[in-house]
Amino acid sequence: MASSQHLAPGTFAVVGGRTGRTPGSPVSPGIELTSTYVQPGDIDPDLPLYGRYANATWAAFEEVVGGLEGAPGGAIAFASGMAAGAALFSLVPRGGRLVMGATSYNTMLALARERAGAGDVELVEVDVADTDAVRAALPGAAWLHVESPTNPLIEVADLPALYAAARRAGVPVSVDNTFATPLLQNPLADGADVVMHSATKYISGHSDVVLGVLVARDEELLAAIRHQREVLGAIPGPFEAWLALRGVRTLPVRLERAQATAGVLAGRLASHPAVVRVRYPGLPDDPGHAVAARTMRGFGAMLAIELADRDAADALTRAVRLWTPGTSLGGVESLLERRRRIPSEPATVPESLVRLSVGLEDVEDLWADLEQALGSL
Ligand SMILES: Cc1ncc(COP(=O)(O)O)c(C=O)c1O
Repeated sequence: MASSQHLAPGTFAVVGGRTGRTPGSPVSPGIELTSTYVQPGDIDPDLPLYGRYANATWAAFEEVVGGLEGAPGGAIAFASGMAAGAALFSLVPRGGRLVMGATSYNTMLALARERAGAGDVELVEVDVADTDAVRAALPGAAWLHVESPTNPLIEVADLPALYAAARRAGVPVSVDNTFATPLLQNPLADGADVVMHSATKYISGHSDVVLGVLVARDEELLAAIRHQREVLGAIPGPFEAWLALRGVRTLPVRLERAQATAGVLAGRLASHPAVVRVRYPGLPDDPGHAVAARTMRGFGAMLAIELADRDAADALTRAVRLWTPGTSLGGVESLLERRRRIPSEPATVPESLVRLSVGLEDVEDLWADLEQALGSL
């Protein structure tokens, strides 16, 4: 097994999670399809026992993601990003105050609001781009959960400042790193306690699998997360884990290409007369630019545009021919969506906002399609 300690992420994504170099052994790990394992007599804790507790294909995938996040042995895969999120929120002590970004991914927000409505937690929603507002909510809090950049407003939190404030207040911090990926920021190395991913997105990268992952370094936290996976049973299927493993191998090259294209498209969109606003932290006048430039290793491949109104935004999604109108993000194919068509999307998201997930197609083809679609509005 390769160690992530001495290797660049682009190398570890390729070599991690392999079974060895014994002559005749498979280069690509197989898919372990079994619900149970041979175990006579007393249980050996070092051997797999049952398919809800352990699986070699999960382990290979987890080795790669844990290594990329700087926590070898610290990744735990789930059936979806939301299954990971539900396990994460169950770490918040009963009755404790959960501080969370008011513009987080809508279903994470819905889950937190449901838990608050049921009296399980006290929920305080904050503007994560406003460091002072988050700081002010921390004294007495039980947990801070921050998504950055946010979905779909692409706001950027000053994560290092938030880690420092949370540490002073004694508050554990989790970060949803779905948009940035471990390549652009490593929350655990910088001071967070848990990292969450919808691995459905960039990590798997091909829009063909739904999967989630939590990563932590602290042994107690890891045991609590593993316990949640066991009792809730939200385990990934071995085939899905294998697809995710196959996908994550190319994450560094995919992200590099998509990010470069996103930068070009953001600049061109910003000067298009039909576009009212572009939200992309790589643009020098974006509110998140300075923080992203200081705290991230790149600006990512997600952007959002605001058009004249809701009708124009809907028309754009019908006029594109190469971009695929659809929800989700982080795949090889470029997707776009008017987010407020989703009923649970918060009112903080403008009706006219279209979120763009930039894929791997040629930048000029993507631009030509956007230009013809914007020109038709
Ligand atoms: C930022 C973010 N977190 C969590 C999730 C939930 O992940 P999943 O759809 O894999 O359950 C999503 C899905 O869109 C997301 O964008």
